[in-house]
Amino acid sequence: MIAVSKGCLGAEELAAVKAAFELGYFGMASKVLEFEEAVRKYLGAKYVITTNNCTSALHVALDALGIGKGDEVITPSLTFIGAFQAISATGATPVPVDVYPDTLLIDIEDVKRKITPQTKAIMPVHYAGNPCDLDALAKITKDHKIRIIEDAAHAFGSYYKGKKIGSFGDIICFSFDSIKNITCGEGGAIICFDEALADILRQKRSCGMKRPGQGSSEWKERVPFVEVNMQGYRYHMSNINASIGLVQLKKIDSFIARRREICRRYDSALKNVPGITCLPINYDNVAPHIYVIRVKNGLRNKLMEYLRNLDIETGINYVPNHLHHFYARKNVSLPATEQAFQEILTIPLHCGLSDSDVDKVIHGIIGGIKDLAS
Ligand SMILES: Cc1ncc(COP(=O)(O)O)c(C=O)c1O
Repeated sequence: MIAVSKGCLGAEELAAVKAAFELGYFGMASKVLEFEEAVRKYLGAKYVITTNNCTSALHVALDALGIGKGDEVITPSLTFIGAFQAISATGATPVPVDVYPDTLLIDIEDVKRKITPQTKAIMPVHYAGNPCDLDALAKITKDHKIRIIEDAAHAFGSYYKGKKIGSFGDIICFSFDSIKNITCGEGGAIICFDEALADILRQKRSCGMKRPGQGSSEWKERVPFVEVNMQGYRYHMSNINASIGLVQLKKIDSFIARRREICRRYDSALKNVPGITCLPINYDNVAPHIYVIRVKNGLRNKLMEYLRNLDIETGINYVPNHLHHFYARKNVSLPATEQAFQEILTIPLHCGLSDSDVDKVIHGIIGGIKDLAS
C-alpha cells in the first residue's frame, strides 16, 4: 500500500534516541532546550516553547491569553478536530467560518461577519502549508483588539510574502507529529514575541511550574524546588522527542525540496484532467504538508475506493467540524466548506515516495476518472 502520509525517519533518528537514552533522563531537559534553540534559529523566531503536540500548543496558547467561558474563537470548520477541541477545552466557543472555494483558506469576509463583542481570537489555518491572508487578518484584529493564533500545523518551512511563517506575527503553533514536514514522533511548538507571554507559556506547559533558570542555558535537568502560581498542564516535550526533532530539522531543506517536487509533478499531470481540480498553490513559497485534489461529478468516494484497490491510500482533510454532532449548532451554513467536503481527496505526499510511486498515483487517478466516468 502506498501510504497517504508518513514520516521519513531512519538510522540517524534511531541513533539520536539511543543517545537520549544514554543521557539517562527522558523528560524535559537539555535536548528540549537544544531543539527549541534550533527551531528558533531556523524560523528566525523570538521565543519558542515546545509542547508534546500541536493540539496542546493551541490549548495552552488560548489558556495563556485568558480565553475561556463566554469567549468566542473564530476558526475554519475545515480543520483538524484537535483545533476545535483546544478551543472548547478552555470553555470558549469555537465559531466556525467558511473557506475560499479555490484555496480552502479562511474566508476573510466570513471572519468579518462572525466577529462579535465576545470574539477574543482568530485561529486561521495554513491549509496544506499554504499561508492564508495574514495581512488582512492583522488589519481586522487591529481594529477589534483580537489575538491571532496561527494554526501552522501544516506550514513548518512555508513563507508568507518573503517571511518565514513563525518569524513574525502574534502567536504561531506548529505540529511535529508523525506525518508532519518534520517530526519529533509527537511534538508541537508555540512561537511568540512577548517575553511575559513566553514565561507564562513555559509555566503552563509544565503544570504551572516555574523553574529556576527556565528558558536559559542553566535549565538542563530536573530541579527539586519549583514555584507554582497558575493553572498549568502536563504538555511538555520529552528529551526523546526533541532528539528526533533535532535530526529531522537538519534534513528539512531536502524534505521540503522533495515534497515540492512531488507536488509540482502532481500539478502538471493532473491540472488538465477533466473532473479534477488542484489547489492553486505557488510551491516556491510553500513547504507542502498534504496534496489535496477536488474530484467533481460525485466521484470522490468511488475514486477513493478505486485507488484503494490499486493499493494507494488516500485521505480526507477534513470532515468539517461544524458537522460533528458535538459541535453542531443551529443555522450554521458554510457552503464552500460543505461543497469541499464532498470533493476533497488527499493523495500520497511524503518523502518516502519514489518517482514510480508518484507515477502510479497519477496513472491511478487518471485511469480511475476515465473508468468511473464511463
Ligand atoms: C490543521 C491542524 N491543526 C492542528 C493539528 C494538531 O496537531 P497535533 O497532531 O500535533 O496535535 C493538526 C494535526 O494533524 C492539524 O492538521
